[in-house]
Amino acid sequence: MKLSSPALALIAPIAVQAGLRFPCSTLTIQRLDPVVEPGAMPAAHVHHIVGGNAFNATMTGDVGERGTCTTCQMAEDFSNYWTAVLYFKSPTNGSYHRVPVIPVQPLLGGSQGASGGLTVYYTQHDLSTDNLKQNAVKSFQPGFRMTVGSPTATSKPHIGLRYQCLQGQNRGAEMSDFPTKPCTGGIFTTHHFPACWDGKNLDSPDHQSHMYNTITMDGFMPAAACPASHPVRMPQVTYETVWDTSKFNSLWPSGTPNPFVWSFEGTSGYGTHADYMFGWKGDALQRAMDKSECFYDGCGSIKKQAMSTANQCTIKETIKEETLGWLTALPGRGHPM
Ligand SMILES: *[C@@H]1O[C@H](CO)[C@@H](O)[C@H](O)[C@H]1NC(C)=O
Ligand SMILES: *[C@@H]1O[C@H](CO)[C@@H](O)[C@H](O)[C@H]1NC(C)=O
Repeated sequence: MKLSSPALALIAPIAVQAGLRFPCSTLTIQRLDPVVEPGAMPAAHVHHIVGGNAFNATMTGDVGERGTCTTCQMAEDFSNYWTAVLYFKSPTNGSYHRVPVIPVQPLLGGSQGASGGLTVYYTQHDLSTDNLKQNAVKSFQPGFRMTVGSPTATSKPHIGLRYQCLQGQNRGAEMSDFPTKPCTGGIFTTHHFPACWDGKNLDSPDHQSHMYNTITMDGFMPAAACPASHPVRMPQVTYETVWDTSKFNSLWPSGTPNPFVWSFEGTSGYGTHADYMFGWKGDALQRAMDKSECFYDGCGSIKKQAMSTANQCTIKETIKEETLGWLTALPGRGHPM
């Protein structure tokens, strides 16, 4: 029998050292934000949140020790990951409808039974290599949190924050603002967090200054060396989300501007942002980051769970309000005249 079939050659990984990539199902969609507005019930705008069930309006201390279930495939990861939520604003009557999230379909591995949610990456160097001999990666510490991007941004966000217009599964070019034409497969958003830490602060007043961004190119590119002010190389955290805008395409009259808005309704897509709350149990993330030659799944160094189990993890809805639609105003945005 001939062993080198073309089919096998196609699926053989070109590179094998990359870090972690895994799906997390939707945990909750509510107006809560324990990083930017701790204690606020409700927070200013609606978020799509995935991860551990210790999520709450206020989160302090060791989240990984408090979580008892997680919507992520990595069973020891009780971190929370969230972004604003995409809404469709009807060009004909101004009403809003929340855009559903559907699982990301990565090229290898598929979405593995995730329910909505987003895909999380912790890469060590770039998409296919870890570079550990030159540059060891340090895990975040309990209590660590950060944000990337800002809802009040009025100019193009940094290159790690991107939109793609899915035509079927074809992702197309990365853009700094919303697509201007309907996308048959939905809108794909990417949030790359900075990967250099000041080595001291678990947070900072703007939730960003304790980290330093070295990303200057699209995609999962090797980041430049960390500067003296932020000398510690951390995992490069990335979120990918697919917003199923397809069902609204027939309500988008040809030739009219983009009708999609974030839940804070900025004037453009520049306000795209994301929040991260570290919550891995014990040294689980450090063990994964110390491991070389792992193609995305941790190579057995950390525990995984079936997504059918992850999908059963829930929290109580504390903010009792309708967020889906059709709504005359976005939750928290008052009523238009
Ligand atoms: C969230 O906070 C409330 C009020 O402080 C508390 O009663 C509740 O147990 C917390 N929930 C979780 C999941 O920690
Ligand atoms: C606005 O338009 C949408 C889509 O056509 C429709 O479903 C909704 O009922 C309308 N809302 C109002 C308040 O007319």
